[in-house]
Amino acid sequence: LEESLPQQNEVRKCDFPEGFLFGAATAAYQVEGGASEGGRGPSIWDTYTQTQGKILDGSSGDVACDHYHRYEEDVDLLANLGFDAYRFSISWSRILPNGFGGVVNKEGIDYYNALIGSLLRKGIKPFATLYHWDLPQGLHDSMGGWLSPEITSHFASYAEVCFAAFGDRVKHWITLNEPLRFSLFGYGLGIHAPGRTSDRSRSLEGDTSTEPYITAHNALLAHAAAVEVYNTKFRAQQGGKIGLALDAEWGEPLTSSQEDKEAAQRHLEFQLGWFLDPIYFGDYPESMRNAVCDRLPQFSKREIDLLRGSVDFIGLNHYTTRFIKHATPPTTSSGLSWLEDSHALRLTEVEGKPIGDKGASYWMYIVPWGIEKMLKWITDRYNRPSIYITENGMDDEDGACKSLHHHLHDSKRVKFYQDYLYYAAKAVREGTDLRGYFAWSLMDNFEWQGGYTKRFGLVYVDFKDGLKRLPKDSALWFGGFLKNDWRGK
Ligand code: BG6
Repeated sequence: LEESLPQQNEVRKCDFPEGFLFGAATAAYQVEGGASEGGRGPSIWDTYTQTQGKILDGSSGDVACDHYHRYEEDVDLLANLGFDAYRFSISWSRILPNGFGGVVNKEGIDYYNALIGSLLRKGIKPFATLYHWDLPQGLHDSMGGWLSPEITSHFASYAEVCFAAFGDRVKHWITLNEPLRFSLFGYGLGIHAPGRTSDRSRSLEGDTSTEPYITAHNALLAHAAAVEVYNTKFRAQQGGKIGLALDAEWGEPLTSSQEDKEAAQRHLEFQLGWFLDPIYFGDYPESMRNAVCDRLPQFSKREIDLLRGSVDFIGLNHYTTRFIKHATPPTTSSGLSWLEDSHALRLTEVEGKPIGDKGASYWMYIVPWGIEKMLKWITDRYNRPSIYITENGMDDEDGACKSLHHHLHDSKRVKFYQDYLYYAAKAVREGTDLRGYFAWSLMDNFEWQGGYTKRFGLVYVDFKDGLKRLPKDSALWFGGFLKNDWRGK
């Protein structure tokens, strides 16, 4: 593979089509802070971060980047770098403090109105995510959150409040961020809120080999319910687009054997097919039905009618790639995890050679060519849908040995963006309908179970000194890339 890589991946803005949007992304719990301000109710992440031992550095998003108060400064940063769009998420419990419809928190509405207003004044398009993992605690306590089918109508009511309040100005909506990850991490591995675990040696809270599938099923139906609300009450008047953001790593067959090729295909079906096959084909992939059997919920005819065609675009959060090797299928279908179910082994090296350079997270291998293959796979399987890359980026570690100088002069991240954009542009040239690209993240922030130990930002945030923002070299590189548009020259 390496031999086929060009030495220098040159990419220019004009390699992307006219009207292509470049943006940066964040999520409410990771950047806002103001956790107990403005009438915001608690979310499952407030509770989870208070549980000892869950977050690497014992931190929380209570203050985070204080985007709640400093959003104007952050919008200025976006504008100065030349970004066209900003992807942010709305905190459900800032709008409906206990999650239920009824009492809408005016201060929450005011906050997002102010943020959206400030983006539009600078000519930046708002892309709003309705759910980026911060479920109102009230909904978890009263009904078990995503485990309950009732969550669907609560999500639809919340979405309706947002469409009504912001839809005159927000023209791009993302219902859910990474349902795969919050299902597996929150309800299977127990390493994200609400921390339900499938590790039977630690605690057994339920049938957690089933719960991720129930969570994801309810999440899909919640997505469809929100889109139905948009279609019936808002679309004609507001004319926006709606999609969902799915995470997927590319799976490269380890060898050219048929078995490995099929395993790699299953690996992709267990990630994207899990959510997109019901939307495009009306059911979960056959490989999932065969392996997960009766642990995989069924759709009713009405549910499928709602799901089919429920996206105007696919949001892809893509970071990394794995080699995939066929694993012997388990002989039972009970008590298994998602990884065992797909019987596809994910490998990070072949013959002692890593698949790519490392970022800070244990999972972060830099494999630029993976993004092209991923985009082409989606294009082929779903008949050339519109796609936005809603997240792409890499992290480096914080820590005593890493100086401010090291963080600001992030040449590795500059190369990361150059290379990934190069391969994204190649996919576009070869037929993918890619409409936009969002870097993760605008700034260093609270990285979930990693706390503040990892930095994904284009902009450095000094968490020890007044949350000062300092653009890194990668931000400056992006700024130059966006300004030097040689189109037509
Ligand atoms: C994506 C999430 O999965 O990955 C982001 O949508 C997250 O919210 C990013 O910050 C990095 O993941 P992590 O687990 O390293 O914080």
